[in-house]
Amino acid sequence: MRFHTRKWVKPEDLNANETLFGGRVLAWIDEEAALYSIIQLENKKVVTKYMSEINFMSTAVQGDVVEIGIEVVKFGKSSLNLNCEVRNKMTRETIVTVDNIIMVNLGDNGKPKPHGKKKVEFVRDRLANADD
Ligand SMILES: CC(C)(COP(=O)(O)OP(=O)(O)OC[C@H]1O[C@@H](n2cnc3c(N)ncnc32)[C@H](O)[C@@H]1OP(=O)(O)O)[C@@H](O)C(=O)NCCC(=O)NCCS
Repeated sequence: MRFHTRKWVKPEDLNANETLFGGRVLAWIDEEAALYSIIQLENKKVVTKYMSEINFMSTAVQGDVVEIGIEVVKFGKSSLNLNCEVRNKMTRETIVTVDNIIMVNLGDNGKPKPHGKKKVEFVRDRLANADD
């Protein structure tokens, strides 16, 4: 799994227990999954369809640095199936895992549209191929 994004836990990210608020973590995960999918599928119109069980295993406190990892489980026809882990950057302790996130590629009419992708691609390779 590649951990693309780091976040710094700030006062506005805390719950009443002074630890990282679960809703904030879910917003970070959703944004990360959307960004990852938009880049992979080369389409800005990608939406979250489904998120599986969310398992909060540990927490973080103000000042901690956390990182968000995303991995492709499967390329579907219009869907992209991802899994995600958020962990403490310094200790590598897992904060939360989401095993199954389904993102759906949409056409201009807002309906699912085949994305035609079969494997993970890297932008640098696309750019290099464009130069050939
Ligand atoms: C996303 C949306 C357009 C999909 O419409 P739909 O009629 O359910 O589409 P389909 O049944 O054709 O499913 C589309 C794909 O998602 C997959 N899928 C749908 N529900 C799924 C589920 N619960 N679990 C796993 N995969 C699922 C289907 O298998 C299909 O994959 P494939 O094309 O790779 O075979 C529609 O449900 C929608 O607009 N939902 C709201 C999305 C949104 O606004 N999200 C933001 C948060 S509110």
